[in-house]
Amino acid sequence: MGYFENSCYLGRYHGVNSIRAGLCHKDITLKPDPTNSSPTRLDANSVSLCYGDGDNTAFAVNDVSICLNKPGFYGVIGPSGSGKSSLLYLLSGLKRPTSGEIVYRDRMISAISERERAEIRRKHFGFVFQQPFLLNFLTARENVLLAATPNDSDASRHLNTLLEELHIDHLAKRFPAHLSGGERQRLAVARAMINRPDIIFADEPTAALDHANGWSVINLLKLYRNRGMVIVVTHDHTMLEGADRIYTMLDGKLDGVQELNDSASNPQL
Ligand SMILES: Nc1ncnc2c1ncn2[C@@H]1O[C@H](COP(=O)(O)OP(=O)(O)O)[C@@H](O)[C@H]1O
Ligand SMILES: [Mg+2]
Repeated sequence: MGYFENSCYLGRYHGVNSIRAGLCHKDITLKPDPTNSSPTRLDANSVSLCYGDGDNTAFAVNDVSICLNKPGFYGVIGPSGSGKSSLLYLLSGLKRPTSGEIVYRDRMISAISERERAEIRRKHFGFVFQQPFLLNFLTARENVLLAATPNDSDASRHLNTLLEELHIDHLAKRFPAHLSGGERQRLAVARAMINRPDIIFADEPTAALDHANGWSVINLLKLYRNRGMVIVVTHDHTMLEGADRIYTMLDGKLDGVQELNDSASNPQL
């Protein structure tokens, strides 16, 4: 812990027109959200997750410590069964660790009730899974709006802006059955962003897609790197190109941390 605390994140953002031009660089991001000024921090302190009991105990996550304290695009990579999803579930409060603690801002989310964890997830976290889980009887727009905070009078306007920023506004009125797999997953990314989360957790968001579609989904997720943390779990290292930091999992343990953010070539604009 603490060995990357001094790392410096200097985000920069360019116009989203760069995406239209087909550029896929780490420096394309959305403008920072001026309403979200207090720093987000997420710590895992010596967390472990065991499945089974007695002689059948197996560590899915074994004594892992990480600290995320700056907006950015973070990757978790490792072979199948190495504990990536389990780690993501612990970080996001979907599961409670067997030992160790998870601290989000000043809340020890590993110690609070399921109801409180659910509230934090709903208000402050966004999720993207391998499957988009859209409701077939709602349009694309309605699917995203459904995830908005109830009584958020600004949600509809914000949704329009978000769909435009992500260049998927042309999909808004379509039903999921009339969307490709890649288009559905892009909507799932928009849905993860609709509540302006502090952190987006994505578990193998590209695993069900071909490489081109996977890449476009990853590029949408990367757009958020100035607004919050984006944590992407994948077994495909090509999807983590341009990441600020990559954690490698192996047999439930943290096997390495690559600090990739080069502040010299990533100046703040
Ligand atoms: N619900 C479960 N019950 C028992 N073992 C599990 C369960 N979920 C995952 N595991 C085991 O925990 C280990 C890590 O799984 P997982 O976090 O899904 O890895 P990854 O996402 O890297 O493929 C694997 O050995 C897996 O078999
Ligand atoms: Mg997994």
